[in-house]
Amino acid sequence: MILTFFALFFNDLNRSTVSESKRIKILTILQDASTGIEVKAMGWVRTKRASKNVAFVSLNDGSTIKNLQVVLDVDHFDDALLAKITTGASISVVGKLAESQGAGQTVELLAESIEVLGEADAEKYPLQPKRHSLEFLREIAHLRPRTNTFGAVMRVRHNLAFAIHQFFHEKGFFHLHSPVLTSSDAEGAGETFKVTTLDLQQVPKSEDGSIDFKKDFFEKETNLTVSGQLEGELAALALSEIYTFGPTFRAENSNTTRHLAEFWMVEPEMAFYDLQDNIALAEEMLKRIIRFALEHCEEDLDFLEKREQDEQKNRPQNERSELSLLERLQLVVDHDFERVSYTDAIRILKDSKPNKKKKFQFLIEGWGADLQSEHERFLVEKHFKKPVVLFDYPKDIKAFYMRQNDDGKTVGAMDVLFPGIGEIVGGSQREERLDRLTQRMGEMGIPEEDLWWYLETRKYGTVPHSGFGLGFERMVQFVTGMSNIRDVIAFPRTPGNCEF
Ligand code: 4AD
Ligand code: MG
Repeated sequence: MILTFFALFFNDLNRSTVSESKRIKILTILQDASTGIEVKAMGWVRTKRASKNVAFVSLNDGSTIKNLQVVLDVDHFDDALLAKITTGASISVVGKLAESQGAGQTVELLAESIEVLGEADAEKYPLQPKRHSLEFLREIAHLRPRTNTFGAVMRVRHNLAFAIHQFFHEKGFFHLHSPVLTSSDAEGAGETFKVTTLDLQQVPKSEDGSIDFKKDFFEKETNLTVSGQLEGELAALALSEIYTFGPTFRAENSNTTRHLAEFWMVEPEMAFYDLQDNIALAEEMLKRIIRFALEHCEEDLDFLEKREQDEQKNRPQNERSELSLLERLQLVVDHDFERVSYTDAIRILKDSKPNKKKKFQFLIEGWGADLQSEHERFLVEKHFKKPVVLFDYPKDIKAFYMRQNDDGKTVGAMDVLFPGIGEIVGGSQREERLDRLTQRMGEMGIPEEDLWWYLETRKYGTVPHSGFGLGFERMVQFVTGMSNIRDVIAFPRTPGNCEF
């Protein structure tokens, strides 16, 4: 990679005139530039400081959190041009790199020519060079990528996505593009967004008064997918190991810091894996991608760590995280995850201080309770102090497709719980025995006709298999330390919010 950067430079050097020179990203300039070289940089002005003879412009093009300092000899430029160089304006600068006098940067750019690409009315530009609240920035999600925080989050997000593809590719998994439009509700939670082209003013009805979906586009009731898992299973029962990585949609009306109506999920599905193999893969993947971020996003993570420390100063002591961001990431990478059965977890929770002192909002009465995020976080943050994998949950609180254990009460489900987040991964061994599967579907009122294709994989060459789903935004939250999930996706969709 470094070689290409140098090639770019030397190409530029060989050009005869300045105006022909090719733009070089600020990341490249700061990493690899030597002084005396002529470059062209383009970006958005973060700040301008002017004194009598010189002006200093901090220029950012998103390639790095760092700004390039552009130095302008005020006498050399037109006043009208200088006046247009304001916070938010976009400019193109050609000049020579010189050793920087300022702290924290290697080189600065001595401007020889400047072109203003786009002005930004200084009075009206919403992003002033000061700290804005995350709530305010959500209202200007079209501009917030230009802030240090969102630039950092988006670069980290990209690196995590890349690391996921790399991890699976290296292990011989194939990326399956599962459909977004579907007629099934894999999780059976009934939280689907309906998809229709019917005229909502004049919905066609059947004789019995129900909506006649035969007249709809797909000639059946259709929704946006809540999970690519069922299709993932079909592919895994042919290719052995696959993963999906796509948007999923849930119309659950939960206004929390960990729920989105549109979120991205990574769903590996593996033939011949049992539940313990599944857990081991999840642990390996999570560690690998965090390590990748630690290695490739150093500057952004340093910035995000300081950002979090600043933010926590304003919070009550008990809401502050005991470990810093980088310490939390290192904790996950360095420790084996604790594997605990649901039954043991309930015992721990029932005897816990917050349960006995009635501090939990939902008190744990006994076996069978669905765990809330307060319980998950207690186990991770207070009890075990490291990531926890819970497994073998009561079948009554889990989906129809999970493999039934011999005890008749539990299924081979697993959830990975992370500090500060709670559930980050949910998965299971799948029920591969046709009779058991159809019996469970019957109990749960899921019509066999709707999933005839899914059932056929159990009729023809069924094998034990497993898989899980990683909530990608929750992962980005964990790695960036952002406390609200709305701040780790470019354009969040939540109840009442579908702007941009
Ligand atoms: O636990 P869930 O519902 O599991 C499934 O969807 C399975 N089909 C996965 C599989 O086995 N292939 O969701 C998986 C993960 C959760 O652990 C959570 O991290 C995330 O997806 N998630 C959400 N993230 C953001 N907003 C929401 N509304 C989410 N719902 C689930
Ligand atoms: Mg779950």
